[in-house]
Amino acid sequence: MNTRAPHILGIAGSPRRHGNSDHLLDACLAGARAAGAETDLLVVSAAGIAPCRGCNLCSRNGHCVVRDGMQDVYPRLDAADAIVVASPVFFATVPAVLKALYDRCQPYWARRYVLGQPIEHRRPGALLLAGGGGDPYGHECAATTTRSVFAVLGLDYTAESAIRADLPSDTSAQPEALERAREIGEALARDAAGRLGSL
Ligand SMILES: Cc1cc2nc3c(=O)[nH]c(=O)nc-3n(C[C@H](O)[C@H](O)[C@H](O)COP(=O)(O)O)c2cc1C
Repeated sequence: MNTRAPHILGIAGSPRRHGNSDHLLDACLAGARAAGAETDLLVVSAAGIAPCRGCNLCSRNGHCVVRDGMQDVYPRLDAADAIVVASPVFFATVPAVLKALYDRCQPYWARRYVLGQPIEHRRPGALLLAGGGGDPYGHECAATTTRSVFAVLGLDYTAESAIRADLPSDTSAQPEALERAREIGEALARDAAGRLGSL
């Protein structure tokens, strides 16, 4: 029986700091801490992650040959008992800084589908989205892309919240959205703690 506190990683996917998705993530991680979790914040725009080169060298040994900030991100992804991604909607999907992190998860795909290494344990994952709502193509593409990455990381897509917000102050005028994000954080912490307890 494992009794340590679950470790929740929050990934801030916006190139704009302290905007709407950051506010949602802050509320979510506060909820997780209130439910007994330890939290870690990864600000993708400050992490120095270059795009995937598509070289496929990760198919040889399951590791990326590009030496940049992503090398510090891999162990944080691996150490998390649950992950929550917060992102704005950019042209119906996630911004380039977050997509770069997603694409650099190709080594996890290679380990699973080329090298035949099974995922050791499954973890809960959630997505928080903020979009201005002026684009007619919605946010489903952002969610689908995130689900695809979660799958190779061994994350179950357990919760999603998408709100309409544009100016950086818009989220603070939506207390129900912040409360929903907080509840998602609490649920992630409880889910992760339950899975740890059964290890
Ligand atoms: C390049 C760019 C593209 C955007 N595309 C969309 C879009 O397709 N759909 C949408 O709802 N909002 C779109 N927006 C608006 C942002 O999603 C919105 O301002 C959001 O609140 C930003 O979140 P943040 O404050 O966390 O950065 C776009 C904004 C930018 C800068």
